[in-house]
Amino acid sequence: MRAGKNIILVGFMGTGKSTVGRLLAKKLQKEFYDTDAEVERVTGLSVKEIFRRYGEVRFRSEEKAALKRLLQGDNRVIATGGGIVLDPENRELMQARGVVVCLTATPEEIYRRVKNNDDRPLLQGVDAWEKLLRLWEERRPIYSLFPLQVKTDGKSREEVVAEIIALLSSQEKEEELEG
Ligand code: S3P
Repeated sequence: MRAGKNIILVGFMGTGKSTVGRLLAKKLQKEFYDTDAEVERVTGLSVKEIFRRYGEVRFRSEEKAALKRLLQGDNRVIATGGGIVLDPENRELMQARGVVVCLTATPEEIYRRVKNNDDRPLLQGVDAWEKLLRLWEERRPIYSLFPLQVKTDGKSREEVVAEIIALLSSQEKEEELEG
């Protein structure tokens, strides 16, 4: 893997961006960051609390600022919040400052992973499954804009990390061949 390069993980909530990102960073000897954690560090509030007190618009603006700050560095693995890709400027920034890998999972698998967790304001309530499906359908076209995709269903985090590394290596080889 080319030294110094930033790797940015995007994908729907519950696709494992933070868990996989932490391990990927360790394997590649890069520093790990997480936009949600950065927002929480700067505001002193949990993501849940920001949504509750100030709403999603405020969260998105904190999230964008966090992304910009984290992308100023090099040699990082950055896990992002699932909704970061909604903003076209965020997408451009990520693609300009690193290689973006999109993690995917089926909605059924995502629901299994997130249902017992109340940290995600967008997936709360008795209709959490319907909310998830609606968001998933809405966002699917945006996630598919990213050429590098890794399926995570039924895979361990080690397997996902190995796939990401293989994908990035083959992409680098292709780039070298293209000159
Ligand atoms: C969000 C995803 C969350 C967090 C916030 C909003 C989204 O991050 O940023 O709750 O809009 O998809 P994860 O993808 O890490 O759950």
